Amino acid sequence: MSIKSSKRGQVPPFVVMDVMKSASDLEQQGKTIMHLEIGQPSTGIPQSIAEPLKHLIGSESLGYTVAQGIPELRERIALHYRQAYDVEVPAERIFITTGSSAGFQLALLAGFDIGDRVALASPGYPAYRHIVSSLGLVPELVPVGPETRYQPTVNLLETLSDEIDGLIIASPSNPTGTVIPDQQFEDLLEYCNGRGIRLISDEIYHGITYGLDARTAAGSVYPNIVINSFSKYFSMTGWRIGWMVVPEDLERTVECLAQNHYISPPTLSQWAALYVFGASDELNANISRYAQNRSILLSGLPKAGITKLAPSDGAFYLYADVKDLTSDTAQFCRALLEEAGVAVTPGHDFDPNRGHETLRISFAGSTQDMHEAVSRIQNWLPTMQR
Ligand SMILES: Cc1ncc(COP(=O)(O)O)c(C=O)c1O
Repeated sequence: MSIKSSKRGQVPPFVVMDVMKSASDLEQQGKTIMHLEIGQPSTGIPQSIAEPLKHLIGSESLGYTVAQGIPELRERIALHYRQAYDVEVPAERIFITTGSSAGFQLALLAGFDIGDRVALASPGYPAYRHIVSSLGLVPELVPVGPETRYQPTVNLLETLSDEIDGLIIASPSNPTGTVIPDQQFEDLLEYCNGRGIRLISDEIYHGITYGLDARTAAGSVYPNIVINSFSKYFSMTGWRIGWMVVPEDLERTVECLAQNHYISPPTLSQWAALYVFGASDELNANISRYAQNRSILLSGLPKAGITKLAPSDGAFYLYADVKDLTSDTAQFCRALLEEAGVAVTPGHDFDPNRGHETLRISFAGSTQDMHEAVSRIQNWLPTMQR
């Protein structure tokens, strides 16, 4: 007798992880690979917080905390909203989560029922659509392009054939790095609120922008959910720690879900997150490095023939339209990795319909690697088999 397995659990792989695996296989064979595929800071936690953490490990039991997270960290995040955005967010509405990834699960479980439709931009972060579908919700892809800076607009939402129950936005976005302009952001908030659409704002790349500040949906009068993380600006990917700002109507629901699904977020990571707020010099030095890396790619890639780049206002990505060079970026990226030793991510991870003509280049690595990658791409492209 065959044993049932779920259909909703059958999500596609996270392609960037597959690219990383191929790159690592080549490294095992002795090749030097430039890692421009992965969206994580190449730096670890700021050195200044290592000592207090060592002390905690030696002196505290570090057991479970309350599901919502330690009050010290929630208060510190509330202060962050006051200082960085001039908005008031009560600490009771802040939930510490196991990375923003857990925040998404909690937000979607709290906000929607099976079969509800959640709109998201395409290209967009692939896990959105896969988390949405694995929870029994329906992802409604909103195709976006250079006309709207690769971001959803009210007009685009109005063209959808089905009514939607939710909308996920990300500004700056992954994979394009584009920021939603202030008025467009306000219009989306107002439109969603007026139609009973629950808006989830992914603010994980806040703090990493190049001249244009991103707006927060926290502190708004509308019942939005805000998701954020210590993974990117705070350079703490492996600590699996993030936060949500939850509207009043969902506070108790999210608390009960968090208790049952996770018990509590990782305790040592919560303390590390609290301490990291005191390390802004080291963190801001990372942002200067990303800015320098971005300039190297923005001047080097067009010389190699990669000219159509989304305006990268933030995050550490360049999203390139390379249809003049290939109609199959999966194959293009494989050849670039195997022949030139440069790992980048093919666009179909982010846009299942049009991603065969695009790719994402991450500049989170070292400046030296950016120079080397540009030089390898410039040398390889003229030799590429078309
Ligand atoms: C847009 C976006 N949201 C969420 C995540 C998940 O990050 P984490 O779970 O590490 O907070 C990522 C990771 O790359 C991302 O790019």
